[in-house]
This record gives sequence, C-alpha cells and structure tokens, in this order.
Amino acid sequence: MAVQWNPPCEGNVMSSSVYSELAPAAATDAKTLAQEFLHGLKQQPKALPCKFFYDECGSQLFDQICELKEYYPTRTEERILRNAIPEIVPLCGPGCLLVELGSGNSSKTRLLLDHLEKPAAYVPIDISHPHLMNAVKRLAQDYPHLEILPVCDDYTASLRLPTPSSEPERTMIFFPGSTIGNFTPDEARAFLQRIASNCRSGDGFLIGVDLVKDRRLLEPAYNDSKGITAAFNLNLLRRANREAGADFRIKQFQHCAVFNETESRIEMHLVSNCSQRVRIAGEEIQFAENEHITTEYSYKYGVETFCQLAATAGWQRVKTWTDPRHWFSVHYLTL
Ligand code: AVI
Repeated sequence: MAVQWNPPCEGNVMSSSVYSELAPAAATDAKTLAQEFLHGLKQQPKALPCKFFYDECGSQLFDQICELKEYYPTRTEERILRNAIPEIVPLCGPGCLLVELGSGNSSKTRLLLDHLEKPAAYVPIDISHPHLMNAVKRLAQDYPHLEILPVCDDYTASLRLPTPSSEPERTMIFFPGSTIGNFTPDEARAFLQRIASNCRSGDGFLIGVDLVKDRRLLEPAYNDSKGITAAFNLNLLRRANREAGADFRIKQFQHCAVFNETESRIEMHLVSNCSQRVRIAGEEIQFAENEHITTEYSYKYGVETFCQLAATAGWQRVKTWTDPRHWFSVHYLTL
C-alpha cells in the first residue's frame, strides 16, 4: 500500500543513501531550557519533564541503566523480540519503512534489521544529536545497503517523517523500552492518536510495555546498587546548571524512586536534603527540607488494560508476546 508522506522536516533531518550529517540537532536553546525548568519548579508540587534527562551524559547513563542487573526491562524485551522475530517479520512484510521513536543506541533495532525483508529505509528519531549520530555511524557500517534517514527531534512534540528514495509498502513504527510508560495514560492515548494520524490503514506499531508486578522487583530496578539511576536523575540538575545557568548544589539533593500501587507507576523524585534556595533564569526558587521535584513517572500496565487504551486511540491488537514470568510485553498493533 502506498504511504502518504509528510514533507521532510527541514533543519532536523539528515539523509543520503547511507546517511549524512547535513543539519544541526534540534537542541533546546539555553533560554527555552531555563524557562521550562523554571516553569516546572514553580509548580506545586515541583516537577520537571523527563525528556530533559537525555542530553549526551544522560543518554550515556541511560545506556548503562539498560545493562544493570536490577533493570530487567531491556533484557526481557530483547528476549521477547528475539523469540517473536519469526512472527514479527511476516507482519511487517517486505519493503516496510521502519521508524523508531527514541532510537537511542538502536540496539534492539538490529534484531529487526537483521531479519526484515528489504526494508525501504530506517528512520531513527532521537532528541540527543551525538547519541543519534554515533548509533547511525555504527549502523551505516553494519548495514551498508540500508537507507538510514536520522531525525534529531522531540517526537513527543511532532512526528515529521522524511521521504525515503523507494516507496515503502507500509510504515512500521517501533517504540520499544516501555517509553510509553513515561506518559500518563491520558497523554499516552493522545500520543498514540497522534501517531495514528500520521499513519495509514495497514501500518503497524510494534511497542514494548512494562507490566505491573511486585514492588520488590520494581523498586530495585529504579534504585540500583551502583547508583547509576541516581546519577541519571541528578544529571537533570547538573544539566540545569550547565545549560540553563542554575546554581543547584547537587549534593543537597537525593534520588528517590517508589512504586505508587494505586496509580500503578514508579515515581522518581529528587528530594531536597535541607531548606535552600536555587537561582534559575533570574529567579529564586525556595525548597523546604524534604520537598521533592517529581522527575519521572513510569507507568506499569496489564496486557488487557494497555490494549484497551491503544484501541481507544485507534490501534487494534494483532498479537501480544510476553516472557514466561509476565514481566514485560511486546504488542503488534495495526490501524
Ligand atoms: C525510558 N524509560 C522507559 C525508562 C523507564 O524505565 O521508565 C527511563 C528510566 N528511568 C529510570 N530508569 C529508567
């Protein structure tokens, strides 16, 4: 089926038969960043958007999180995908355009690229320019005949896709890692609807979703013994200091992650150790002792609850795969 393409996003898309770095990253400028931080810190309770985790340092820390023994999602999802590949490949069919949202180091994509039948092109979309381009360089070496069209952008704000040189049979959106869990359910529905509005009947959506489970498994995954998740969380404040001229004293904040069973979500916070003031964007923000900044929600779903949510956004389940312990799920949805 022919696919209707949006015009390429000038300024953020880099393309060639292999790839080329034609354009600068869609970096948030210092002023916008400072304003967004300030806006979040003026809310009650204070909150910062988790998309700001992923500067170069944060993206590297996230890669380390994925390797941690306590952080089961990456490993579990990879195993599910590997086992499901014989069923996934025919669902995608030949000549599909593979679009990955939040592609990071593209490690799981290799499983697909190794098996898909003549994909029309691969479009990795990521907010971190260095991270994106490093992954693309490695992929270009390993898949010399694949057209790679990297897009450095915030896919949560808009989804603008480049035009591949050969017309794809269908689009396959790949959204692994349970990043959908970092939206509230209402935001997740709106996001799934927005993706659907960029796709056509018959297009596919392969999505990884973490499942609800005992807090004794969930909490250690976000409170690892090496302190990598703590460093990842605190990097948000370092980033505010580096890029937005804030004066957070990092040692005076502490990482905290708890499972909120009622809301079915991990909540990550940064807790102020003492009463203190922080300057950012020309203003002063007061923190009480033990006051927290919410930095991330990570929702955990039941298989049916997630599929019902996706259906309200127009996506019908074709197939769900899980691991034997039912810790994680991968769904193939279609419009
Ligand atoms: C990217 N996202 C799905 C991760 C998660 O598990 O919610 C981010 C993360 N935060 C702390 N550890 C991992």
